Amino acid sequence: MKIIIINGPNLNLLGKREKDIYGDLSFEEFYTTLKSKYPKIALSYFQSNIEGELIDKIQEVGFDHDGILLNAAAYTHTSVGIGDAVKAISAPVIEVHISNTFAREEFRHHSYISSGAKGVILGFGLQSYELALQSFLK
Ligand code: DQA
Repeated sequence: MKIIIINGPNLNLLGKREKDIYGDLSFEEFYTTLKSKYPKIALSYFQSNIEGELIDKIQEVGFDHDGILLNAAAYTHTSVGIGDAVKAISAPVIEVHISNTFAREEFRHHSYISSGAKGVILGFGLQSYELALQSFLK
């Protein structure tokens, strides 16, 4: 099973960035552990701070992967383009957030991703990614 995690802007700074909200683990550390826990899943990871690169990656993997875990970060709340890309592909997308965006500022309550996603998992810290991954295991 081919699953990719796609992370948007500033998520490369996990472990350094607003630790009270996002914790003190880097994504690379978390990802290494996650990958070793699910050896049967062909898991890969992509991060970009650039909206167009995220759209390119969604298009590139969107017809041959079994699933995408997408944390579009701040673009979740602004990007019609990423929302359209999610709707354009055939691979199911799980929208993931580390924090509970509904418990934060109002501008984080709207997502351009959710309407095209298979499901949304948020608010469980980095465990949100693992819960989303588990949703693909039958
Ligand atoms: C986030 C929530 C977004 O509102 C924010 O812009 C992020 C991270 C999360 O994972 O909690 O960068 O997507």
